[in-house]
Amino acid sequence: MLPKPLNAHRIAFFGGVYSNYLALEALLEDARERGIERLYCLGDLGAFGPLPDRACDILRETGIPVVQGNYDNSVGNGLADCQCGYTDPRDNYFAKVSYDYTFRRTSSENKTWLRNLPAELRFRLGPFRILLCHGSPRKMNEFLWETTTSDAFLNWLFKRYHTDIIVGTHTGLHWHRETSPGKHFINCGAIGRPPNDGQRTVVYTVINADYAINSDPVAQQSARTDPHRRIARRAPPKGSTKTSAYHDNLPCRLQIDFVRLTYDHDRLATEMASEGLPDEFIETIRTGWWTTCNEILPAKERRRGIY
Ligand SMILES: [Fe+2]
Repeated sequence: MLPKPLNAHRIAFFGGVYSNYLALEALLEDARERGIERLYCLGDLGAFGPLPDRACDILRETGIPVVQGNYDNSVGNGLADCQCGYTDPRDNYFAKVSYDYTFRRTSSENKTWLRNLPAELRFRLGPFRILLCHGSPRKMNEFLWETTTSDAFLNWLFKRYHTDIIVGTHTGLHWHRETSPGKHFINCGAIGRPPNDGQRTVVYTVINADYAINSDPVAQQSARTDPHRRIARRAPPKGSTKTSAYHDNLPCRLQIDFVRLTYDHDRLATEMASEGLPDEFIETIRTGWWTTCNEILPAKERRRGIY
């Protein structure tokens, strides 16, 4: 059975909140200004940041659909660790510091809410079937890195899970690939910490879908068959870093943008210090470079950072 259609043209995805409720508040404002019709959160509400209940409370109040991340599953079920999937002892040390703090400071009411979040969400946007997950459709904490994930594997996922677009967040590094016309994998990035590039802004993803021609059979036919019917590229939204994925030969156009989001990082860093969180976490917020959880990065992603 086809997933339900979503009657919207401009939607956005974010994940890896990591208790950064200030970035979450900034995102809500930014999305309002951009005219985003629906927002979706892909999980990992806790980790790294201060006062984990605040992000949970905002999401519950706004009613934004949330997919369960590994962190949410662990906190909600009272597990011993975050299931982050790290293998290096230093990474695991900092993961434990972060997890113990988050678990201690999350209310029992929010733990119940986290426990009951769905592992995936599906809907249709025009002709596209969209699947939202945290890591991959088959595993909540699977690391799908840009430089080590093959087209063949992504194509297998599209087929196995009966979908055209998969959106995840777990690695916290945004990337997008269209393996064949109309088949997209998107890591929507993380709003909890910068993507290890020396900038202090964080990232979320906006999709503009123009499927108005869907309702016009003549236009549909023309769009499919006329090689000269090219659709002009729109300027990317203000603050975005990438524009991609136009479908000149399908009855729907997609524009996928990674938006750089500014928020009050100084205030976040101050609150993290007040909560006694590690200096290493605070340094990442202040500098834009990852200081921990680096060992899991593939070589190419690792070389983009300074640690
Ligand atoms: Fe995760």
